[in-house]
Amino acid sequence: MVKNPYQPINAHIVDVIDESSTIKSFVVKPDEPIPFKTGQFVELTLPGEGEAPFTPSSSPNQSDQMEITIMKAGRVTSLLHDCKKGQPVGIRGPYGNGYPVDTFTGKEVYIVGGGVGLAPIRSLLLTLIDRIKDFKRVVCRFGARTPEDFIYKDTLFGQWQKIGGLEIKLTVDKSNGQWDGNVGVVTTILKSDDVDIQNAVAVVCGPPIMMKFASMDLVEKGFKSEDIYLSMEKNMSCGIGKCGHCMLGKYYVCKDGPVFTLNQIKEYPDIWD
Ligand SMILES: Cc1cc2nc3c(=O)[nH]c(=O)nc-3n(C[C@H](O)[C@H](O)[C@H](O)COP(=O)(O)OP(=O)(O)OC[C@H]3O[C@@H](n4cnc5c(N)ncnc54)[C@H](O)[C@@H]3O)c2cc1C
Ligand code: FES
Repeated sequence: MVKNPYQPINAHIVDVIDESSTIKSFVVKPDEPIPFKTGQFVELTLPGEGEAPFTPSSSPNQSDQMEITIMKAGRVTSLLHDCKKGQPVGIRGPYGNGYPVDTFTGKEVYIVGGGVGLAPIRSLLLTLIDRIKDFKRVVCRFGARTPEDFIYKDTLFGQWQKIGGLEIKLTVDKSNGQWDGNVGVVTTILKSDDVDIQNAVAVVCGPPIMMKFASMDLVEKGFKSEDIYLSMEKNMSCGIGKCGHCMLGKYYVCKDGPVFTLNQIKEYPDIWD
């Protein structure tokens, strides 16, 4: 019998982690392992309510359970935020291409992220950290609205700061009394960085306005548009290249992406909408 491509694998929530006032991470255990590549996405179903696409934020080396970090945006994400441990859910996928990590070998990997865009970046970072010596260095430049809005605070301010070969710098739009780091949008901490452009790739993920200005700054810094990887979010329905909801120029974001180089998509006027 032909398998129904829309049939999710049964799963349940085994843990819920509060990340910020609007973002929670859900540890989800499927009834069967779901191997995925970092940067691919899944459709998470809340039975009887609906489904939405999310990029797992956990390492692809762990396929028996995955972590999904969700910002409250509308109906389905609000209902998901109300879910507790034990809640049955469904997962279909993984879909899309993911990050071409093997092509980053020997290079400087320059990662720019903000807000819930740190979800795919966390999965990528966990993948890079597992083989950190394969890369010349990994540089992360992350922004949040306020210090409280950073997600993954424990690792971001703790463990990840101590890993050799990994350099993290953070900035906030608006400080509080305790913050002694940079204040300003994420592009304010890119300018002074010394990058071996000829031997570097950049990865950008975050709100569209941030991706737009970060991409412009990276091009100004000398990055070639084919070396800038963007994780694109378009409204999706089927996730498998059937419905056309996710079209970006000639591309289906669900099938040809969600990871594109700036070079692939820069000619389309609506890439940041
Ligand atoms: C490939 C991919 C990966 C994603 N990964 C994550 C992730 O890891 N974590 C996370 O929090 N969110 C992620 N998103 C966004 C997430 O899918 C949307 O926030 C979610 O679908 C909103 O559903 P809703 O029913 O709560 O909101 P709705 O009530 O449907 O809409 C609320 C608002 O969100 C907008 N919206 C709806 N669907 C999407 C969408 N697919 N992409 C962008 N905006 C949308 C609507 O236009 C509206 O403005 C991802 C989206 C894509 C396409
Ligand atoms: S979401 Fe249906 S074609 Fe991409």
